Amino acid sequence: MVDSVALVDLDKIVSLCKRRGFIFQSSEIYGGLGSVWDYGPLGVELKNNVKSAWWRTMVWGRDDMVGLDAAILMHPNVWRASGHVESFTDPLVECKDCHQRWRADHLTEGKCPECGGELTEPRMFNLMFKTFVGPVEEEAAVVYLRPETAQGIFVNFANILTTTRRKLPFGVAQIGKAFRNEITTGGFIFRTREFEIMEIEFFVKPGEDERWHELWTEECLKWYTGLGVSRERLRVRRHEARELAHYSKATCDIEYHFPWGWGEIQGIANRTDYDLKAHSSYSGAALTYFDEDTGQHVTPYVIEPSAGVDRAVLTFLIDAYTEEEAPTATGGTERRVVLKLHPVLAPVKVAILPLSRNEKLLPLSREVHDIVRRSGVINGLVQYDDAQSIGRRYRRQDEIGTPLCVTIDFESLEDNAVTIRERDSMAQVRVPIADLVGELQRRLGV
Ligand code: GAP
Repeated sequence: MVDSVALVDLDKIVSLCKRRGFIFQSSEIYGGLGSVWDYGPLGVELKNNVKSAWWRTMVWGRDDMVGLDAAILMHPNVWRASGHVESFTDPLVECKDCHQRWRADHLTEGKCPECGGELTEPRMFNLMFKTFVGPVEEEAAVVYLRPETAQGIFVNFANILTTTRRKLPFGVAQIGKAFRNEITTGGFIFRTREFEIMEIEFFVKPGEDERWHELWTEECLKWYTGLGVSRERLRVRRHEARELAHYSKATCDIEYHFPWGWGEIQGIANRTDYDLKAHSSYSGAALTYFDEDTGQHVTPYVIEPSAGVDRAVLTFLIDAYTEEEAPTATGGTERRVVLKLHPVLAPVKVAILPLSRNEKLLPLSREVHDIVRRSGVINGLVQYDDAQSIGRRYRRQDEIGTPLCVTIDFESLEDNAVTIRERDSMAQVRVPIADLVGELQRRLGV
């Protein structure tokens, strides 16, 4: 069951993101570049928080994981060996009337969704972007912008094994940009041509792969719910045989119920020994593991949890978006928009708000801002805001998901205490300034 709140209007999210500085269209002043987006001052905080929450859980939180940051540009043979040059394709059709292009496998009827026109026969279109290394634009200098980060891990397998002396099972995690020349894009930041992936290649002994596939699917699901995503708006969908990527024996997708329906936010694939064997035979390098128990060299199997950063950001934004009635100072009610983001993800952790711009309040307010900001324990932005009425400032902080506001009023000048206001309950409590940082830290849980 999916409740009605899941069906929030995507236009409202897009408009909030633009209005508050989360996400802007790329190159907007030139009319924009199709399906490429820029993260603004709040967006970059949110996105960084998503990535560091993932790294903290998947790398720091485990003792069977190491990290990697491989380059985007790789030797072109990487993509020949991996099968991407031949198989990383989508079926492209074109409308004979309006010349709009579509992915044939995304169409339910055999005609143009735009004008109803007749479509051409499908032809396979490779999604990898090409560029050139060096000053000569010739076939010999072609390299690709990586369409996934995984291959950087496979080609470094021997380096990682010898430098870390890991035993199976162990994983390598990586976060980075990927590029795909998608035929059809859309859903705001859901399907774009430049995006980021948080990816793990988890190496296991052959025969233990199916158990680890199940375990990782559960682990990944827990990561989203642990950061507040509603369980009923998430589901796990197993791929049918015809959907499987060229390297996969089995894949489970974690899907979120987006305003337009269920959509993949993460895949967990059983890549078998496909990639290590392919790179081994293409490069001639030995990419095996010596199993001390059996005295044999084996090619490990790989379980690959692969999550889109941008899709995670969109999921957290949509899931947190709430509209509700809130009391006003004059005894009435008004509609407030609240982003009920988990404190770990919130772009601004604490807002410091003097009751008004009255100059008597300013020195103490600035001092409180300095104390909290410089404490070094809040682990995120501490924002000072004295523009407009206090009510409007609370609404603004609610709309960007700030979990806690601290208000300095005239009484504060007498009693050296301030008010903490909680975003979701709007409950207020008075706290001595001397205890403020500890109290904020406790409430944020960061
Ligand atoms: N290495 C495996 C791999 O790349 P994938 O399912 O093609 O698997 C992984 O991509 C994740 O990357 C997806 O689950 C999705 O979250 C994200 N993703 C894929 N294509 C995307 C696109 N065009 N725009 C934004 N995110 C995308």
